[in-house]
Amino acid sequence: MSRVVGPHADLPPTFAPLLIDWQRRAGRSGLPWQGIRDPYRVWLSEVMLQQTQVSTVLGYYARFLDRFPDVRALAAAEADEVMALWSGLGYYSRARNLHRCAQTVVSSRGGEFPSTAAGLETLPGIGASTAAAIASFCFGERVSIVDGNVRRVLTRVLAFEGDLAQTAPQRALWDIAQALLPIDPSADDMTAYTQGLMDLGATVCTRSRPVCGQCPMQGICQGHQSGEPQRFPVKTRTLKRRHESWWLLLLRLGGERNRFWLQRRPGSGIWAGLFCPPVYESEDMARMALPPGWLGGLVPLDAVSHSLTHRELRLHPLLLELDDEPQPADMPEGQWVDAEILAQHGLPAPVKLLLQRLLEPDLFAPAKSR
Ligand code: ADE
Repeated sequence: MSRVVGPHADLPPTFAPLLIDWQRRAGRSGLPWQGIRDPYRVWLSEVMLQQTQVSTVLGYYARFLDRFPDVRALAAAEADEVMALWSGLGYYSRARNLHRCAQTVVSSRGGEFPSTAAGLETLPGIGASTAAAIASFCFGERVSIVDGNVRRVLTRVLAFEGDLAQTAPQRALWDIAQALLPIDPSADDMTAYTQGLMDLGATVCTRSRPVCGQCPMQGICQGHQSGEPQRFPVKTRTLKRRHESWWLLLLRLGGERNRFWLQRRPGSGIWAGLFCPPVYESEDMARMALPPGWLGGLVPLDAVSHSLTHRELRLHPLLLELDDEPQPADMPEGQWVDAEILAQHGLPAPVKLLLQRLLEPDLFAPAKSR
């Protein structure tokens, strides 16, 4: 992407100092990935935070670092263990890339991360904005992040009319982001600036109800002055999610050990490589996968909805409790997994929840009946 910056004489010169001052006064602080310059830890936090809220990331971040305290430990891990620790965070390609990236850093770079955004961007799963975040936080590089939050802040402050569904306005906004950076910043200034962009977008300049009264940019924000800050960013193409229904066969073997029948999903597509009950496109197809004599015991459970980037899934669980271990020929492809070791398997978030509900119904019962 071109980073050539033209003469942006019309950009507000106070943007960077206002943002740095605000972040130090009112931005988020005390998070475990703040105040450190270890690229491994900062990289891990940035990848986890890409699509996931801070409150959710906190627990995963701690567990992940407990098990993989440095890039060598992560590189040496089995992929299944990495997926299991990621289980429930969603967007599993992040975990696969994380593992691949750790292996590249160890095998090709002696365990050292590159110290520039340009170098970081060459690694698997590190895009331009994540590279900029790591380089500015860890090495004080004067480089701007441009993620969804930042696009919202910048397009509102400048009342930027360009259509961000198009490449040219996207590039122009990136150039503007670079031109707005603080002049000759210290490493601490760059940290506060980058964190300030993230914090302002996440907590004040929010998508549908910006809290302009608390915004340090109020005096220079053209979006606010227009009276319609929510109109920005302008984007014509909106993502359309396809609706799909899936029937999940939840085969449970009781007795002393509680076991579930799970399949490993194919290596590409939705939930690639994760463990999941057998999936069917219709209830009839699910029923046809079982011996006719079992069908009377099949119990449909409440359907749940689950959104993916390009899909809106409606999941219909069909529960069958078995008392005795069936003949393998009667079963679809898969394997029995002990409830006790489910946590060691990478499971998609809604599947994890469904199985937890079956194992601990009291925890999930409506409050009044507890
Ligand atoms: N989102 C992405 N990176 C973040 C960070 N470092 N702090 C808070 N939210 C973020």
